[in-house]
Amino acid sequence: MQWNRKMRYTPYNQWPATKLPQLAAQARQSKWRMQHHIQPASGLLNDPNGFSYFNGQWHLFYQSFPFGPVHGLKSWQHVTSDNLVDWHDEGLAIAPDTPYDSHGAYTGTALPVGDRLFIMYTGNVRTADWQREAYQIGAWMTADNQIHKLDQPLISHAPAGYTSSFRDPDLVKTDHGYYALIGAQTTDEQGALLVYYSEDLSKWDCRGAVNVPEAARGYMIECPNIVWIDQQPVLLFCPQGLSQQTLAYQNIYPNTSLVAEEFDLDQAKLTGAKALHQLDEGFDVYATQAINAPDGRALAVSWIGLPEVAYPTDQENWAHCLSFVKELTLKDGHLYQNPVAEVDQLRTTDQPLTLDPQHTATVADLDGSFELLMTVAADETSTVRVADTHNRGALIVTVDARAGQVVIDRSQTGHPFAEDYGQTRTAQVKPHTAINIRLMIDVSVFECYIDSGYSVMTGRFFLADTPTQLNIEASSSAAVTGKVWKWRQSE
Ligand code: FRU
Repeated sequence: MQWNRKMRYTPYNQWPATKLPQLAAQARQSKWRMQHHIQPASGLLNDPNGFSYFNGQWHLFYQSFPFGPVHGLKSWQHVTSDNLVDWHDEGLAIAPDTPYDSHGAYTGTALPVGDRLFIMYTGNVRTADWQREAYQIGAWMTADNQIHKLDQPLISHAPAGYTSSFRDPDLVKTDHGYYALIGAQTTDEQGALLVYYSEDLSKWDCRGAVNVPEAARGYMIECPNIVWIDQQPVLLFCPQGLSQQTLAYQNIYPNTSLVAEEFDLDQAKLTGAKALHQLDEGFDVYATQAINAPDGRALAVSWIGLPEVAYPTDQENWAHCLSFVKELTLKDGHLYQNPVAEVDQLRTTDQPLTLDPQHTATVADLDGSFELLMTVAADETSTVRVADTHNRGALIVTVDARAGQVVIDRSQTGHPFAEDYGQTRTAQVKPHTAINIRLMIDVSVFECYIDSGYSVMTGRFFLADTPTQLNIEASSSAAVTGKVWKWRQSE
């Protein structure tokens, strides 16, 4: 199907009522449907939105275009959870149905305030001659999950000197009041991060642009998020068009992190910023949203998908998923990411890795979703192949504990995509030291946590059939130790 502009922006109520059930039935047939990752019933999923703990539950929303695997008229779809692992679909939450969000209810965040959840998001509007307008919109969700948008936008346009690429507000509450960090672009096409302040959530004033290091700005900053870990500010954002001199990244756009010493929101001033890093060294992470949760943890969730890249499931009219929820911690100034402890609930039976005399091991009968915990001894190497029952192609993970590298290769998976951006990714850790990996597989997505979360590599991969076996080769009989956990069904 060829998607033109008119189809992408057809109001939801003008599609035939049979369309979404038909598309959902088609998606359910897919051999690439995951068992535990949040995925769309039909159409396209992108950024996580409004991640929050409210009214005794975890709430998460995501950007959705339910009518096809393309970026069309976006809405917010709502899911809830008691345990951050099993998610329940609550349906369409924010429809693009007002003059201020007529061309998309774009990304935003949420904060519990009293007995309601306050939501701030970007209303995307196109004028008759297709010029973009961006409104920052407020909405309240009550305890029965009903959302009411405010009649008037909170912020109606970007300040002088900025374009209408002005979106993705990140709400923050401090002792002084409320702040929103908004992604922006200057009229001379530099990325920017604007800070807004409000005492009462209704009147918002611009406090200025954050002094993000100039080399880290790109031409537009999307999806900014700020969390504090051990009192230190950690900024996550997506600088589109970032120079390769600043960061050697391979994906179309990077999702980055910046750890600093202090962040004075009133002055929009970041002090002691360290080097910019890629948040994920894999193929597909973007638009990560992070919060300081009421239980004290800093939690993050990512879109596993990239803008402007075609994926094999497009043929089946659905695309993308969200990552597991990850806990962020800091150690010696380095940002660590690990799946939240709740993800361990997926484990059922485990099986040790036992190498045969040729230093190989096969673990079979895995049924799509499982994890491998493996340590490769210093100066040894090991190659892990994730394959279907007939071994038609594999995702290949090589751990080289001499060079201190983990390389993930998806060139042999049988359904190549995004080849222009390379078929391998490499994470560099300490050489000549043991390396541990936690490789989580859920049918067509992998999340590989290296050295207890020092690095993460995430990506999609599409085999001929469900992955059911791991084939492991090691450089010697003592090179690897570890085990494989099978996962339970989703609830
Ligand atoms: C990032 C993004 C956001 C925007 C949303 C629209 O993936 O482009 O900047 O709000 O997606 O779906």
